[in-house]
Amino acid sequence: MPEHTSGSIDSGSPGSGHGSGKRIVVGVGGGIAAYKSCAIIRSFTEAGHHVRVIPTASALEFVGAATFEALSGNPVHTGVFTDVPEVPHVRLGQEADLVVIAPATADLMARAVAGRADDLLTATLLTARCPVVFAPAMHTEMWEHPATVANVATLRERGVTVIEPASGRLTGKDTGAGRLPEPTEIVGLASLLLERADALPRDLVGQKILVSAGGTREPLDPVRFLGNRSSGKQGYAIARLAVQRGAQVTLVSGYTAGLDAPAAVDVVEVKTAEDMRIAVAKRAPDCDAVVMAAAVADFRPTTTVASKIKKGPDEPDSIPLTPNADILAGLVQSRRAGEIDSSTVIVGFAAETGDSGGDVLSYARAKLQRKGCDLLVVNAVGEGKAFEVDHNDGWLLAADGSESALEHGSKSLMASRVLDALSPLLGSGE
Ligand code: CTP
Repeated sequence: MPEHTSGSIDSGSPGSGHGSGKRIVVGVGGGIAAYKSCAIIRSFTEAGHHVRVIPTASALEFVGAATFEALSGNPVHTGVFTDVPEVPHVRLGQEADLVVIAPATADLMARAVAGRADDLLTATLLTARCPVVFAPAMHTEMWEHPATVANVATLRERGVTVIEPASGRLTGKDTGAGRLPEPTEIVGLASLLLERADALPRDLVGQKILVSAGGTREPLDPVRFLGNRSSGKQGYAIARLAVQRGAQVTLVSGYTAGLDAPAAVDVVEVKTAEDMRIAVAKRAPDCDAVVMAAAVADFRPTTTVASKIKKGPDEPDSIPLTPNADILAGLVQSRRAGEIDSSTVIVGFAAETGDSGGDVLSYARAKLQRKGCDLLVVNAVGEGKAFEVDHNDGWLLAADGSESALEHGSKSLMASRVLDALSPLLGSGE
């Protein structure tokens, strides 16, 4: 065991001054998904944060203390009787900027709800005044049991963020809701809480939201297509966050930079702009809001040839193009025609550059008018901005004429600002 003391989050960690890094407690519950906490700890330390890992005694049945100590650079204990003069059971929670529990078992949540302090992790939870995130993982029956449902509701009422688990393969042959979301997703949500410095609101409960994301590909022949540089990150961030704020979310996804499906989101994969139009048109009438974050190709090759186009005397010297339908404008049209409910909120995105004819905002205002949507999220593109990067900035324009700047931040933070603007436009969700 390391020689250094355990009473402070910074103790013993290499280069652990009070720089920009935050003090994060990673609590690990005793479940098979405990191994995934290693990737979470690593992401936080690589981002420059100071991490203290507090496993429960049963978590150490799955992953050894040495692994957590090596990954965090700090000592690891489960009980309150180590380094008593340092009062770690009080100080770790008091000093933390963020507490992330992954995986959170049914038992750990029950103990947190009861206010128990019978090990270092639950004692730390009682003293923490920072944002706290629980990422549950358990079998579907345990997740759906009324005791767990009530415990999750209580934690949320107290301002704790309880992440919706993913569906999919559980231990053994079982499948269903209860899987720990991917570590990148947990780290993304936890980092958002550091940026926002408050708990995720549960303001979208009862709302059905359709999000489109990614880029479409318009085939020219069996191997070539017209595509675009959309990574899908912004739309995926909106879908992921909308679910965590309580919405039921369908994500109509074109091609992305290999993004994982967000936990608890219903994903519909499409290839072309026309596929996307059909998928969106079919589902929009059943939704309270549609967020068109996808980069939809404006044109497709007029003909798709069945065999690969060869070089040589028959090679084409141009590719005739046909315009694709504008899905966003079509939705607004359908709403005007009464085909979708008049209360459905429609959000568009605009990627704009300024030029001699006008600046980004003047083009965006014209686009809001032209498309007729309720909100337009405007990104200034070019010079390495917006596409394929993790950070973004821009403006949010509303049909009522209000305009606000979206400060520079992660695509998760942008997503949360977009949902902050969308939320008050939605009905009660009943
Ligand atoms: N969009 C759409 N269907 C299309 C093209 C775009 O629904 N065929 C949606 C996008 O999802 C986005 C918005 O329209 O929400 C703005 O897309 P953008 O490409 O910026 O606008 P365009 O209409 O293509 O305008 P322009 O290229 O003239 O700037």
